[in-house]
Amino acid sequence: MSEDNAALALLKFYVDAGVDEALDEGPIDRLAPPEPTPEPAIMPEAPTATPQARRATELTSRDEITRNARAAAAGADTLEALRDALAAFEGCALKKTAANLVFGDGNPDAALMFVGEAPGAEEDRQGVPFVGPAGKLLDRMLAAIGLDRDAAYISNILPWRPPGNRSPTDAETAACLPFIERHIELVGPKILVPVGGTAAKTLLGTTRGIMRLRGRWFTYESLHMTAPIPARPILHPAYLLRTPAQKRETWMDLLEIRARLDGDEGGA
Ligand code: URA
Ligand code: URA
Repeated sequence: MSEDNAALALLKFYVDAGVDEALDEGPIDRLAPPEPTPEPAIMPEAPTATPQARRATELTSRDEITRNARAAAAGADTLEALRDALAAFEGCALKKTAANLVFGDGNPDAALMFVGEAPGAEEDRQGVPFVGPAGKLLDRMLAAIGLDRDAAYISNILPWRPPGNRSPTDAETAACLPFIERHIELVGPKILVPVGGTAAKTLLGTTRGIMRLRGRWFTYESLHMTAPIPARPILHPAYLLRTPAQKRETWMDLLEIRARLDGDEGGA
């Protein structure tokens, strides 16, 4: 891309993303009194099982859930089979509150795979990942590097929406991890893009925050992969909607991803 074209594409990305003025979305009343902080609720101690006994049962059942998840995921040799295995999986309670299983979207033959955190309200309604406001921004981010959903495949760490869009718990993430690992194996992308902090930490197996993970290449590998693949985490579009100033960093990451994609296509 020439410098002029790159500048134009960046400008288009900003304009498409609605960054046309440096204002907050709603009016701010700076004279309003601060919101009162609610009194913390005091939870009565559960009289049953000692803490040690309780932890032991939780651990056993979590182990069992992980074992079941691994076996179910490993047994799936196609994306259809993996979707069926997830639909039949009873190890994650989010399934009960979600309206739909949100499996994947885009082109499963694509060289580029994005993995987000979990479905939001609109994704849950439609059963398709990244179709709400964050998804629309992700589409514009793809467009900014000359790609669309036909040139990428998109999924999430969790296939079910956490109620009220709360963050997934460690147990939920652990239960679903074998499925997204298998999902990545079956798609077999050339480049993996964890989208946002949760996906980056989970897939790269680190506790580091996304601000330290973005801007660099990592190597991603799972049990049944034939070769490791490069992974480049990016900031989450939902975060970029709230913090548009960070779009510049994301643009740099997107350009790196595009260049590596072109290099692979040219070189392989
Ligand atoms: N945020 C995500 O991480 N994934 C979606 O599918 C939608 C919003
Ligand atoms: N926090 C996240 O979890 N993801 C981001 O992309 C930014 C902040």
